[in-house]
Amino acid sequence: MVSGVKFKFDLGNYKVKVNFSKNSLDEEKSALAHIITSWYHQHKRDLPWRRTKNPYHVWLSEIILQQTRVAQGLPYFDRFVATFPTVTDLANADEQDVLRLWQGLGYYSRARNLHKAAKTVTEKYSGRFPETYKELLNLPGVGPYTAAAIGSICFDAPEPVLDGNVYRVIARLFGIDADIANPKSRGAFMDVLYRMIPNTNAGDFNQAMMEFGARVCTPKAPECNQCLVNDSCFAFKYGKQDLLPVKIKKVKVKTRYFHYIVLQVEGGLAMRRRGPSDIWQGLYDFHLVESQESSFDVHSLGLPVAEVSPQIKHILTHRIIKAKFYLIAEQESIIKDLINKWNLEVYSYEQIVNLPKPKLIVDYLQQLDF
Ligand code: ADE
Repeated sequence: MVSGVKFKFDLGNYKVKVNFSKNSLDEEKSALAHIITSWYHQHKRDLPWRRTKNPYHVWLSEIILQQTRVAQGLPYFDRFVATFPTVTDLANADEQDVLRLWQGLGYYSRARNLHKAAKTVTEKYSGRFPETYKELLNLPGVGPYTAAAIGSICFDAPEPVLDGNVYRVIARLFGIDADIANPKSRGAFMDVLYRMIPNTNAGDFNQAMMEFGARVCTPKAPECNQCLVNDSCFAFKYGKQDLLPVKIKKVKVKTRYFHYIVLQVEGGLAMRRRGPSDIWQGLYDFHLVESQESSFDVHSLGLPVAEVSPQIKHILTHRIIKAKFYLIAEQESIIKDLINKWNLEVYSYEQIVNLPKPKLIVDYLQQLDF
């Protein structure tokens, strides 16, 4: 357990020192935890993964919710559970089918890790999830957040979760201005959470903190007037809600320019499975020419272009992709030569529907009236 923590709040010309002397504040913290958890019991959304302590369902929901919001994640959760009712069914699936179900969520390494972790649970633990935080942490794709979520919700392990919502609640309540984008700040937040988390029903506390952050202590326009802990909240008291948490952005988003050459033959299109050295590993797309700038002289390829798409902008975590598609539909002999030269394969339209594809490709196919 941690000892007393000192935080110096320093935003603009406002300065204050907060000294957390352990015992009195531990009591205050447990009281706040209790109030937020009671709020959760009354106001939580009724979600399928909250009606169970089945670790397979809880794990699936947590991995999906790392990619998307609850409303968008729900149909994915339902489809995964319907298609693979148990973790062993998921382990025995083809990776392609897993990627296909994941399609649209992005960040496909999560889906591959999902599959790998299901195999580990099936092979190493005979299909039963391990119950300790440490063992959970060893599963592929399971980091401290997911291990704490599964451990606390399913096995009552008193391990706090610390996601973006929880960072915000803690930063505002206690006036912590450490940069949450810096991994070194994590310890200060965890110290506070270890003082708050109860020894029993830790899963409810964790979910309460996340739900409270998502629904009351929101990034913009938080509902401070309805908030049950506003009288203890540093940010509310000093009007610093918009300044907390502090998050210093470092990553410069790079733009990549993709030019897809779409070869059309009778009844189908030429596609290929992407290799391991770039984004979208294992997904299917068309022959790709990448350029450093937006402009690209497709005529330099000497091909009869039937149709050029407008530029489509696709946003990934650290990249923006600006893509154009050039449909080549005539001169079958040229097309056949190119299919060989570019190592493509022809897939029928029915097959293409079932191939796992990046959302960018799905969107293009849709507007092709595919
Ligand atoms: N966000 C991700 N997982 C959650 C959970 N179990 N409860 C509330 N919000 C969440």
